Amino acid sequence: MSRVFHAQVGSALSRSRRPGPPPSSGAVASPSPRAAPAGGARPDGGIVAGYLAPHPPHLVYAENPPRNEPRSRGGWDVLRWGYQELRRRMAGRDRPDVLVVHAPHWITMVGHHVNCVADPRGVSVEPIFPNLFRYHYDFRTDVELAEAILGEADGLGLVTSALRDPGVRVDYATIGALHLVNPAWDIPVVSISANNNPYFYSDASLEEMETLGEATRRAVERTGRRAVLLASNSLSHLHWDTEPDLPEDMSREHPYNQHQYEWDMRLLDAVREGPSSRLRTLIGEHIEQTESETKAGSLTWLLSAMDWPDVAGDVLAYGTVIGTGNAVVEWMPHG
Ligand SMILES: [Fe+2]
Repeated sequence: MSRVFHAQVGSALSRSRRPGPPPSSGAVASPSPRAAPAGGARPDGGIVAGYLAPHPPHLVYAENPPRNEPRSRGGWDVLRWGYQELRRRMAGRDRPDVLVVHAPHWITMVGHHVNCVADPRGVSVEPIFPNLFRYHYDFRTDVELAEAILGEADGLGLVTSALRDPGVRVDYATIGALHLVNPAWDIPVVSISANNNPYFYSDASLEEMETLGEATRRAVERTGRRAVLLASNSLSHLHWDTEPDLPEDMSREHPYNQHQYEWDMRLLDAVREGPSSRLRTLIGEHIEQTESETKAGSLTWLLSAMDWPDVAGDVLAYGTVIGTGNAVVEWMPHG
């Protein structure tokens, strides 16, 4: 995808998509006029943690939160225990200022979009599983950071666009990950789209996600936010095409096939051994072998934003959902 829509630095296309002055021409390292001032920066700002945070609607359905309309008998408990541990760890540290999420089901055909609507609210519906996920959301966006990410991404030559239409329904991959990480919805959010069209271009490149990650890091540092980053991706992604009468019937839940299970384990072994730079090539191999949802680029964005930390990741849980592989993983930054 990046080969199709990659634009020149400070592209006219990006500038034409939203109001405001153009970024300074050709200056990759120059701050964009859209980047937020550092007036509110705090000395302990930066990316304080990153999580692989998959979004299967089944996990939200299984928790029976009041915001989700369908009711369940539970299920997929081990993965939900992983999210409980994630929440326990976040609660035990200084509170982050913002959750920044990159999600694969807000697919944008042209450019990387960032939600700049101050207070999105509505009902998010999973189109394949409306019987499981009809979720009433209402949250705050950190618009200053959202605009700073757009500015930095512009400066690095990406095509970007600000979403400012409050009527656009927020996708279930964004809402699902955010609910599972912070069901209280009491931390502001920045939501980023998936531009690489994985379902249309089999040779979609992850290189642009590295650039988007760098832009995200620059924006977080510029604005001085304490940010937690969320990559809303499952792993192996071949899955069943029929649903049991009881969707949460765990006697029916197991890996789609042994091949993609073994490749998930190969990836997670590398995650657990570290350093994260080992994943730079392995993510692509894993995608080739398993149709991994990481082809949408969220995991590459996350680790690039953290500058491929020289540490191992902590796998909090692994489990399948309709046969797909899903892991909850924590990475802490350098040092
Ligand atoms: Fe998904």
